[in-house]
Amino acid sequence: MHLPFLFSFLSFLFIQNTSSSVTDGKNPAPADWPMQFHAVLFMNRSGILQKTDLWYDWPNGRNFNIIQHQLGVLNYDLEWDNGTSFYYTLEPFEKTCKVFHFDVGILRPDWLNDANYLGQRNQDSFLCNVWEKADFITYYEDVRTRRPVYWVFKTSGMTAHVMTFEVGAVLDHENWQAPVYCFSENRTQNKRPSKDSEIQSFNVINRMSMRNNRQRVVNSLNGVIQENDVHKSVP
Ligand SMILES: *[C@@H]1O[C@H](CO)[C@@H](O)[C@H](O)[C@H]1NC(C)=O
Ligand SMILES: *[C@@H]1O[C@H](CO)[C@@H](O)[C@H](O)[C@H]1NC(C)=O
Ligand SMILES: *[C@@H]1O[C@H](CO)[C@@H](O)[C@H](O)[C@H]1NC(C)=O
Repeated sequence: MHLPFLFSFLSFLFIQNTSSSVTDGKNPAPADWPMQFHAVLFMNRSGILQKTDLWYDWPNGRNFNIIQHQLGVLNYDLEWDNGTSFYYTLEPFEKTCKVFHFDVGILRPDWLNDANYLGQRNQDSFLCNVWEKADFITYYEDVRTRRPVYWVFKTSGMTAHVMTFEVGAVLDHENWQAPVYCFSENRTQNKRPSKDSEIQSFNVINRMSMRNNRQRVVNSLNGVIQENDVHKSVP
């Protein structure tokens, strides 16, 4: 083994080791996500903009991304902790629904626990602590309030700016019901999701990464969800 390589490998181990320590002055840990919250996110992927309402509801095992594409379609991405996700549109848009099954559930509140601390940066006019996780997300948290401010999916370059963050907000029960056509046999069936569809969901990308299943993340970010990765849960 060449010495320069050995040296950088050892530094890598050293950095990994020191940065994974628990909260102290130099290496703070990110705040756990609240058990329930509502956030409004402005997201940008290569100039394509969307506004996402994120309703995280850990005690009830569910998570919702309601995605308004700029001057376009409103998409509902309803994710259950049992691995089933419903991805649909409602009237006045064309009634479509796709059902996916993932082998992991929704994000745990402590999903950032093993993130690697990168230090402080200014972002969106907030002084932030910054972490990266699994080489694919960089996450910015306000130093003062410890609320998330911003994140970047490193592979796709998609950015999210957190506009509101309401701790404890819960979406009314009736809104968590997927429409009846999600349960019929006539659902729209696209083998490959379009670029603006479910693969861009904050949570789906993260759910995949949680298990460090990088290949799946890369595949999905490239718009190629494999047949054996995501399959219909309804025949
Ligand atoms: C969106 O991101 C692109 C780079 O991918 C950038 O050029 C553009 O200014 C961004 N738009 C907004 C509204 O932030
Ligand atoms: C998961 O839960 C949802 C909501 O209760 C349900 O509609 C879906 O069928 C469940 N999926 C599985 C695989 O049990
Ligand atoms: C499904 O499609 C079939 C054939 O096109 C049609 O007869 C049936 O009414 C449809 N069912 C629903 C629930 O839309």
